Amino acid sequence: MADTIRAGDCGVLPRELPAGSVDLVFTSPPYFNAKSYSTYASYESYLASMRRVIRLCRRVLSEGRFFVLNSLPILIARRNLGESSRRLAIPFDLHRLVTEEGFDFIDDIIWRKPEGAGWSSGRGRRFARDRNPLQYKAVPVTEYIMVYRKTTDKLIDWHLRHHPDREMVRRSRIPDGYEKTNVWDIPPASDPRHPAVFPLELAEKIVRYYSFIGDVVLDPFAGTGTVGLAAALLARRYVLFDAKPEYVAAARERIRAVVKIDRDDFPPHPV
Ligand SMILES: C[S@@+](CC[C@H](N)C(=O)[O-])C[C@H]1O[C@@H](n2cnc3c(N)ncnc32)[C@H](O)[C@@H]1O
Repeated sequence: MADTIRAGDCGVLPRELPAGSVDLVFTSPPYFNAKSYSTYASYESYLASMRRVIRLCRRVLSEGRFFVLNSLPILIARRNLGESSRRLAIPFDLHRLVTEEGFDFIDDIIWRKPEGAGWSSGRGRRFARDRNPLQYKAVPVTEYIMVYRKTTDKLIDWHLRHHPDREMVRRSRIPDGYEKTNVWDIPPASDPRHPAVFPLELAEKIVRYYSFIGDVVLDPFAGTGTVGLAAALLARRYVLFDAKPEYVAAARERIRAVVKIDRDDFPPHPV
């Protein structure tokens, strides 16, 4: 499959992809209440829409391959001073949907940001000042990276044994310095073109750990294309969708700016 970046609704677009044509999905779904790009009438309709995308991803994902989801709890601001704000534990609701749609749960990876990144959310500031019991709110510095595998009776070894190119499997091996625990310390990223980009370092780790050189990586909610950029840099192919043409244009520009690494030259010094 050729590298693809398309503008449009990922509740529809992946239907054009052949079943089993993708080797890894890594995505960060829209925040339910993101001001600049979310238009859901209710949390229930948000979850229903996520279920449709998860189902489409399952269809296009090949046998026993990985589906990796980045999300975090979000705050629904109070409408007036007499009301409490409300927090939605989105990762836990998505977990239920993903497992109901035919994926096995593999790992919960915690992406930890430096403390300063959490204070900017505003949560915990009142407690820091007043210190009253019951007022305590933890300053959020983590996001979840939930790892699932399309349900299969095949062991991981089966993928290694049945890969059509033994040399590609050998060259996809992960060098020293990999993450050994499920807590990954990575600073957040920012980009003036998008309010919620994730760091290239995070996307690179996921692409390395859950795909082979030459594989196809799908991000249905691609934003500015961080997953596609990581795929290009690591000699994988990418399929990216985003609803907003301006983010798609930014993704094209970012990825075009790097030379796509040829799978036959990657890695430059085999490990
Ligand atoms: C959290 S952002 C992803 C950011 C991305 N990981 C990056 O690094 O730039 C979620 C994206 O989903 C997109 N989106 C929301 N609803 C969509 C839909 N139905 N189809 C495709 N994209 C959608 C938004 O435009 C937004 O760019």
